[in-house]
Amino acid sequence: MTANRRDQFDIAVIGLGYIGLPTAAFFASTGLQVFGYDINADRIATIARGKVPFVEPGFDELLKTVVESRSLSVGTELEPADVYIISVPTPLSSDKSVDPSYVFEAAKSIAPRLRGDELVILESTSPPGLSEQVAEVLISERSDLMLTPGQAKSIYVAHAPERVLPGKIMEEMTTNARIVGGINPESATRAKALYERFCTSDVLVTDARTAEMAKLTENAFRDVNIAFANELSIVCDDLGIDVWELIRLANRHPRVSILQPGPGVGGHCIAVDPWFIVDSSPDHARLIKTSRLVNDSKPDYVLAKINKALTNLPQSTTAANIGILGITFKPDIDDIRESPALRITQQVALANPEAKIKVVEPNLENLPHQLQALSNVQLCTLEATLQDSDVLVVLVDHSEFRAAHEKIASHGNLVDTRGLSSSK
Ligand SMILES: NC(=O)c1ccc[n+]([C@@H]2O[C@H](COP(=O)([O-])OP(=O)(O)OC[C@H]3O[C@@H](n4cnc5c(N)ncnc54)[C@H](O)[C@@H]3O)[C@@H](O)[C@H]2O)c1
Repeated sequence: MTANRRDQFDIAVIGLGYIGLPTAAFFASTGLQVFGYDINADRIATIARGKVPFVEPGFDELLKTVVESRSLSVGTELEPADVYIISVPTPLSSDKSVDPSYVFEAAKSIAPRLRGDELVILESTSPPGLSEQVAEVLISERSDLMLTPGQAKSIYVAHAPERVLPGKIMEEMTTNARIVGGINPESATRAKALYERFCTSDVLVTDARTAEMAKLTENAFRDVNIAFANELSIVCDDLGIDVWELIRLANRHPRVSILQPGPGVGGHCIAVDPWFIVDSSPDHARLIKTSRLVNDSKPDYVLAKINKALTNLPQSTTAANIGILGITFKPDIDDIRESPALRITQQVALANPEAKIKVVEPNLENLPHQLQALSNVQLCTLEATLQDSDVLVVLVDHSEFRAAHEKIASHGNLVDTRGLSSSK
């Protein structure tokens, strides 16, 4: 790729976060000259030293190698390239639609550098149609370029959603099947050839809108199925049935596979992406919307159960010791983004200012700032918390807690949102 275009990079990646930086490093490891661009100067300085600015097991070595070998260069000024990969945030707006402003800013930074024949790939999670809008932004900024393929001044635009699981990026970046969708077949073909440089699994070709919808569908599928489990847990509470035993039994049916209930849905994918479908087709995405609402309301249900457990106490509830097991958004990670467990802990602390809230979180060294601001919350050991909690609340099933499930199950005033106490 560099052979006849020595004056520019093979690939420029825009946005060097959890997704963009590993993507840039993997492409660099295939022998391409890659440039990483980010508006965050601190982040660029860290990466330029060969350091990973977030936690991702096993990634440090790859980054160090590609930075030291100069296959990956980084900066706060975008350099020209044959291929541009956009990997900036696509957050939810307050009205639950996508906020495309980061993507459009990225497109505007690419436009002046285009000469014709470049491929622009949108990797950010996108509602159907955003890749086409990126193409329109590029053309509106550069009326000398065209989207019709095959001309000297043609540019190509594709969507390549990222489906890796943080914590397993080193494995999944190469082994996951990859979907690429073009705004036309030529764009898709170019994107496929690119990802085949490091993907060991299939690179599946479609159109841009289907590729965009595929990523959203995967996360909506998970969300709907978690909502089913969460609703079932509330129904079972009402009927006096152990939901975990019920699910174990029902899952022995050869065509049934119910997920596990919990305190709600967190992270910034499953709790966010289904809204892009709802916003795109509000009159028809009824089940997807309802599932979001079911999962978003589960923390309030858990809070009501904690309140009930507090009112059951013989002594004054104002002086209670409340033990909270886990505040991350899922087991065995340190990620607290959109964590329902963190939200529940905050609310318990605020609603019970006289109570002592003892948080056990083996994956964090310090309490997150949201809890540090509350004087009645402290980080504690599991042992101490099990001993002196008037109410014990299981919010995350970390391995450490699973190993202690018998002790946890024997607590007399337990709110267990993860089924650790269900041994039947
Ligand atoms: N993290 C995940 O697990 C994951 C998984 C799949 C898909 N995604 C999607 O990938 C996209 C990126 O997510 P992420 O987790 O890597 O985000 P992130 O917040 O970790 O990183 C985004 C980076 O983009 C930079 N940035 C913002 N605007 C910019 C601009 N105009 N020009 C250059 N840099 C800019 C930020 O400074 C930041 O470093 C999102 O759409 C997300 O939904 C994320």
